[in-house]
Amino acid sequence: MADFVGAVDQGTTSTRFMIFDHGGNEVGRHQLEHEQILPQAGWVEHNPVEIVERTNAVLQSALNSTNLKASDLAALGITNQRETTVVWDRTTGRPLYNAIVWQDTRTDRIATALDRDGRGDVIRRKAGLPPATYFSGGKIQWILENVDGARAAAERGDAIFGNTDTWVIWNLTGGVNGGQHVTDVTNASRTMLMNLETLDWDDELLGFFGVPRSMLPEIKPSSTADGFGSTLANGSLGGEVRITGDLGDQQAATVGQVCFAPGEAKNTYGTGNFMLLNTGHELVRSEAGLLTTVCYKLGDEPVTYALEGSIAVTGSAVQWLRDQLGIISGAAQSEQLARQVEDNGGVYFVPAFSGLFAPYWRSDARGAIVGLSRYNTNAHLARATLEAICYQSRDVTEAMSKDSGVALDVLKVDGGVTLNELCMQIQADVLGVPVSRPVVAETTALGAAYAAGLAVGFWNSTDELRENWNEARRWDPQWSAEQRDAGYAQWKKAVERTLGWVD
Ligand code: G3P
Repeated sequence: MADFVGAVDQGTTSTRFMIFDHGGNEVGRHQLEHEQILPQAGWVEHNPVEIVERTNAVLQSALNSTNLKASDLAALGITNQRETTVVWDRTTGRPLYNAIVWQDTRTDRIATALDRDGRGDVIRRKAGLPPATYFSGGKIQWILENVDGARAAAERGDAIFGNTDTWVIWNLTGGVNGGQHVTDVTNASRTMLMNLETLDWDDELLGFFGVPRSMLPEIKPSSTADGFGSTLANGSLGGEVRITGDLGDQQAATVGQVCFAPGEAKNTYGTGNFMLLNTGHELVRSEAGLLTTVCYKLGDEPVTYALEGSIAVTGSAVQWLRDQLGIISGAAQSEQLARQVEDNGGVYFVPAFSGLFAPYWRSDARGAIVGLSRYNTNAHLARATLEAICYQSRDVTEAMSKDSGVALDVLKVDGGVTLNELCMQIQADVLGVPVSRPVVAETTALGAAYAAGLAVGFWNSTDELRENWNEARRWDPQWSAEQRDAGYAQWKKAVERTLGWVD
């Protein structure tokens, strides 16, 4: 049998391909960024064709640089930025519009209208989600209503929808020549169109957004021996490899962090932050502003659900310091700059660029920097940015303990921002519990590889995967309880200032 499993992680800012061995160790990777298209305030788009080109490029170069062949891969897993919406023509393979990214707020009127006439409560009950610009349903509706010919093409059965997992799989498995139009339960659970209990598209929900069922992909388990199709013999891997795992990136990270038991949670620090708590086979409805979502479905086993605290802007606030303000030249420099000061100098930064997600769900919020005096410098702003990442995560952990009744005793973390030592120390300080990072911090790709490998017997059980998890680094809280409470109270005050900023 082949000795490795590959995983494509099609993320918000980049696409990477990683190759893992049986111990869950990385043996190769390649990663490429793609353009963030910002046509007007609140709009965020990606070019779907660029995403497919980047995917093919990273597949090819990671394989070449490790001297491996397609036949060395037992299976391929796909994981992706969730909610981001692509609509394309299945007869030409061309997108009808750019991908509308999960952070995009152009559908705020669609989302607000849902709560005026009771449809919002139906969505909460059936899909587990609050009506918000974040999810795919409103984005599909926007494309059908605003792109010339889109509605007619959808009604003819030519225009089809997918998140980027579906778009990438369709292209890898043949595109116009028989590409598979498929997704998994975790991605489908982020559309506002899937019923969490039946795990199928729901006609009432489809009706709310005017989405014809023929546009939608077939929903499969996250890990399945039946598979999502195979790569092409003459494709970028240079051979056929079965795609047997597909799940949204945050659910993949939960699998990569081996959170297989109810009560186990992880927090991923990427463009945004996403904390998921495994709630087992029980569908737990949040009273505290969290989402109810699918955690994973492994083959024929019953589905596992999760509570999720989604935060739109964390790592992307650091990128904003780099790209829009130009006060740092790279993410690592945010740590150096923030270390120049002892504390935030009274400055709080609430990066509500896409409104506020969990636990507030306020699309009328916009970002604010408060508490400024002439004494403050760029260093205070850098420190306030790192603190914002951590305070937003505290908001979510508070909601998790309200909903689950269980207080956190350690926070398992992963993702790019966890390489920022200062940020992770602040996280432990702000939460008052230790923060723990595993040896393989790329748990998103690892989780997709696990899902794919479980389906083909490369790994036999989730217990076997647990043995692969090892702690690399732990941060213990250093702040006093008074310091922690005072800081959090100021943060809550700052959040208040951002609410209701736009109509
Ligand atoms: O829900 C959005 C999330 O899946 C995006 O994750 O890591 O691409 O920022 P990331």
